[in-house]
Amino acid sequence: FTVDMDPNAADKGAYPFYMLKEVDEQPAVMRKLVQKYFDEDGKPTIDEELLKSMSEADHLYIVGAGTSYHAGLIGARIFEKLVGIPTSVHISSEFAYEQPLLSKKPFFIFLSQSGETADSREVLVNVNKNNWPSLTITNVDKSTLSREATFTELLYAGPEIAVASTKAYTAQIAVEAILAKALGEYMNKPVAGAFDVKHQLGLVANGMQSITDSKSILKDLSDKYLSKPRNAFYIGRGIDWSVSLEAALKLKEISYVQAEGFASGELKHGTIALIEKGTPVIGIITQDRTAGLTRSNLEETEARGANTLTIVSRHLAKDNDNIILPDVDELLSPLLSVVPAQLLAYYTSLGKGLDVDKPRNLAKSVTVQ
Ligand code: G6P
Repeated sequence: FTVDMDPNAADKGAYPFYMLKEVDEQPAVMRKLVQKYFDEDGKPTIDEELLKSMSEADHLYIVGAGTSYHAGLIGARIFEKLVGIPTSVHISSEFAYEQPLLSKKPFFIFLSQSGETADSREVLVNVNKNNWPSLTITNVDKSTLSREATFTELLYAGPEIAVASTKAYTAQIAVEAILAKALGEYMNKPVAGAFDVKHQLGLVANGMQSITDSKSILKDLSDKYLSKPRNAFYIGRGIDWSVSLEAALKLKEISYVQAEGFASGELKHGTIALIEKGTPVIGIITQDRTAGLTRSNLEETEARGANTLTIVSRHLAKDNDNIILPDVDELLSPLLSVVPAQLLAYYTSLGKGLDVDKPRNLAKSVTVQ
């Protein structure tokens, strides 16, 4: 790598791009969140007023755009599992203009790295008009979405400069998990009591570190499988499917490979027609219940010429898997499975000589509707 001599170079240290620095910061962000959100006895320090307000809701509505929307997809699964309140996730630009039929006692959670996304703000204006309670989870204290919501929780991820969001995504998921744990316990849910999120986030931090320490493997895989093709697929089921959407977005944003994240069982209903010789199909496999099914779906694509790759949790791994993730609780597996996808996208972009931090046509914060 050559070190840039631009005025921002100091902030990047020896890193050629902010994105790589931000990917590498993720273990530290996880540790910081543990510090910020737990007291000395290991109890989550979430404001009781917030927990009370959320516990009175009959439905949680998570609203976000882009990567934040993808973090919401993971959060919804965690809230439903630990808290037992039905939770739906909405793209802010859709919700703002085609509001779905709402439940009687809605609670809104806004996810936004910047706290400034115009479409999300538009939704919040209407939420406030109706006096519905809301929480903004954001990286930017005193941002507009933070000031205008009833409650705020911060991501403590430090400034994110690269347009492609990385550490904000994993911080959003971690904060959602901490909040779900606190709320579930507040509502006396045994599943939440048994979920040791603090311990798990420690495992996640170590796991992230071991993945970011394996960059050369990811660079080689990207050179071999992703540098030439124009199309690629990430597939998975359940929570792995939700991660595959974010994984595909990373690849699209910075390497301009037309990538799709797909529910692996749905491939055979149309999309498999797109598979041809050499199409990369990357399977994310972290869930006991569906691991075998996703593997069969990968084989189906391989039989049609795909070059398949796997991102697999250690306890589910087989000899010829490509990327092995340290084991953590299944609900938090996205915090690990997304990291190799971030790095695959990074190296694909780098290999093509693109500006990783400033991809064409994109802005870090979108303040127009
Ligand atoms: C832009 C950025 C994305 C981000 C999205 C939502 O499109 O390029 O990385 O996910 O906005 O931004 P927010 O700040 O609301 O999370």
